[in-house]
Amino acid sequence: MPSILYFLSAVVIIVPLQSSRQPIKNRYHNLYGDNMSGRELMNILDFGIGALHFLQQGQYYMNHEVPDMVPQFGAVYDFVVIGAGTAGATIAARLSEIHQVEVLLIEAGSKENFLMDIPLLVYMLQLSDDINWKYQTKSSNKYCLGMEGNRCNWPRGKVMGGSSVLNYMIATRGDAEDYDRWAKMGNEGWAYKDVLKYFKKLETIDIPELQSDTIYHGTKGPLHISYPLFHTSLAKAFLNAGKELGYPLVDYNGKNTIGFSYVQTTIINGTRMSSNRAYLHPARNRRNLHVTRESRVKKILINRHTNRAIGLEFIKHHQNIRVFASKEIILCAGAIGSPQLLMLSGIGPAKHLNELGINVVRDLPVGENLMDHVAFGGLTWTVDDPVSIRAIDIINPTYPYMKDFLMKQSGPITVPGACEALAFIDTKNSTKLHGLPNIELLFIGGGLKGDLILPIVMGFNNAIRQIWNKYFITYGWTILPMLLKPKSRGRIRLLANDINVKPEIVPNYFDNPEDVKTMMEGIKAAISVGRTKAMKLFGSRLTNDTFPGCENYEYDSYGYWECAMRTASVTIYHYSGTCKMGPKEDPTAVVDPRLKVIGIQGLRVADGSIMPEIISAHTNIPIFMIAEKLADMVKEDWGYLNES
Ligand SMILES: Cc1cc2nc3c(=O)[nH]c(=O)nc-3n(C[C@H](O)[C@H](O)[C@H](O)COP(=O)(O)OP(=O)(O)OC[C@H]3O[C@@H](n4cnc5c(N)ncnc54)[C@H](O)[C@@H]3O)c2cc1C
Ligand SMILES: *[C@@H]1O[C@H](CO)[C@@H](O)[C@H](O)[C@H]1NC(C)=O
Ligand SMILES: *[C@@H]1O[C@H](CO)[C@@H](O)[C@H](O)[C@H]1NC(C)=O
Ligand SMILES: *[C@@H]1O[C@H](CO)[C@@H](O)[C@H](O)[C@H]1NC(C)=O
Ligand SMILES: *[C@@H]1O[C@H](CO)[C@@H](O)[C@H](O)[C@H]1NC(C)=O
Repeated sequence: MPSILYFLSAVVIIVPLQSSRQPIKNRYHNLYGDNMSGRELMNILDFGIGALHFLQQGQYYMNHEVPDMVPQFGAVYDFVVIGAGTAGATIAARLSEIHQVEVLLIEAGSKENFLMDIPLLVYMLQLSDDINWKYQTKSSNKYCLGMEGNRCNWPRGKVMGGSSVLNYMIATRGDAEDYDRWAKMGNEGWAYKDVLKYFKKLETIDIPELQSDTIYHGTKGPLHISYPLFHTSLAKAFLNAGKELGYPLVDYNGKNTIGFSYVQTTIINGTRMSSNRAYLHPARNRRNLHVTRESRVKKILINRHTNRAIGLEFIKHHQNIRVFASKEIILCAGAIGSPQLLMLSGIGPAKHLNELGINVVRDLPVGENLMDHVAFGGLTWTVDDPVSIRAIDIINPTYPYMKDFLMKQSGPITVPGACEALAFIDTKNSTKLHGLPNIELLFIGGGLKGDLILPIVMGFNNAIRQIWNKYFITYGWTILPMLLKPKSRGRIRLLANDINVKPEIVPNYFDNPEDVKTMMEGIKAAISVGRTKAMKLFGSRLTNDTFPGCENYEYDSYGYWECAMRTASVTIYHYSGTCKMGPKEDPTAVVDPRLKVIGIQGLRVADGSIMPEIISAHTNIPIFMIAEKLADMVKEDWGYLNES
């Protein structure tokens, strides 16, 4: 966290000196369209008052965290939940609704704080070693070629709330067909008609026009979902571009997903709502809910005679502690952490475990079936007027943005990482309006290439960042075309029998040529948005710098774009599938449809790793759903379903 504060203070001091660029056409003067001359001093004063107000709220926030405790060596709980991320926080909160049971939640990271919940600053969180695991993929000659060391950065939350504290807060469920496909693979109970009630249960929809749609939306759940309170003129134009291209404006979390929309977000009153804030803050006074932070689980203990998970071992402040579960252990360490822990505990591919000297408890394809959503990070358009979110304007205290956030929690700082809108489309059939999309176009109301920090956190190498430096003072917008149903599969393997050694991650982006083709169509679709009247109104021009390494291809040829996508391959952070759910007889399955590890008693996995096939949307809300459903299945199996 301190790195963010240093950054902010540095920029606040330097920036006012350099932001006096005149708008070319004078149609807009700032993001609000105002002529604000004469109000600079007032803005600075209000900024000061706002900062104090905000600090007070921070104090309030701290008082709502669940207190930390140190379990005694050998202590027994009914349920032990590993990892307080999107899934783990939700599950621990739901299980602690049962008065008769004691629940222990173990998290490697520390407290969440209010600075982490400022939507626009989201990607700066990735700079912190304290709250980001900072994984990197194995170096490749097929993708992430424009990244430092040919390795893609894979951030992951290490904090109360897990990746729901690092994420961009975009709230999407996926299409009904995504879940119906899970059910068709033999996963009883996971069809859309079965899971819809959990999507409704988890949410309070704060979007007024959707509140009456009780078929699809909930109004009593812990997690609040809203539209960003502010939209740039460019985002409005993006929706108009959608209409111009013949797409409807949709509630993509309702009946149909295909179409254009502002992003729905897990934001309440202009600030982030993580799983910690939604589920654990309200449960902080429950005496049967115990939370130990800064506690890293090393291994799950399994009785070899009964094949039952009985407890686990973790390290807290250099101390080794063992605790036991009388009923069940629920593993929610995420799509990287969960397979890693299973393998370290002897559950995984037998040959691989043998090579590392790990005793095999159960031979299962743990770590296989790795999926992610990869996007192409090279499509930025420049515009003439100051209509886009530009970091150096936002943190300039003579502009009204900071004071509006601090005093009223409104304005562009409430937009999550400048992600404002999105479109789900089917590039194979542009007249299709139902069923699965194959590409998402994620609209960012700012220029990725001109950003100070974003290319760094994404891992772009010096050569590319130098080419992009010239966009630093320009205004612009970006579309990230994202491949929704990749055919390629990657894998996660251990590199040592040691929890402190990060596993080897091989995503295999664009391994299957179909994926290259579909991404190509996604790029073309994004470019066609840039050609609409709606976007041309702002004088949008696609930046066309040739990527280093792609000079030998003719610009705009198939070969060029393939080279470009293998260069600027950016993750949208949806790692999943590494503890695949499937029927017991499926040789590729790790957990059954009740999320029980196959062949082991007393152990379930519930997080992004269980997805048999990645859903066609961002993964946070689906993982909340998985957690809600898991909690009900556990309650049902132990006879508590009607007691809480
Ligand atoms: C930068 C970023 C942006 C994203 N943006 C979006 C978005 O806009 N919308 C969206 O829907 N999704 C987004 N996602 C994805 C989404 O947030 C994740 O899919 C989701 O949070 C994963 O939930 P999980 O419960 O599977 O794992 P996590 O939330 O990652 O939780 C795992 C937890 O387990 C802990 N843990 C791991 N190993 C151990 C151990 N050995 N001992 C103890 N604790 C351990 C971790 O510290 C972590 O807290 C984003 C993710 C990232 C990283
Ligand atoms: C902005 O307002 C100031 C003071 O009200 C005025 O002098 C100036 O001409 C205005 N600028 C534009 C571009 O409208
Ligand atoms: C937002 O904050 C206000 C005032 O602090 C509060 O009254 C309101 O209920 C909050 N909105 C939501 C959706 O919680
Ligand atoms: C495209 O979708 C429309 C509407 O669903 C359908 O009628 C048509 O047959 C589809 N075309 C192709 C080529 O699949
Ligand atoms: C790239 O864009 C510039 C400026 O818009 C234009 O002059 C140039 O012809 C373009 N180059 C290619 C290869 O399209």
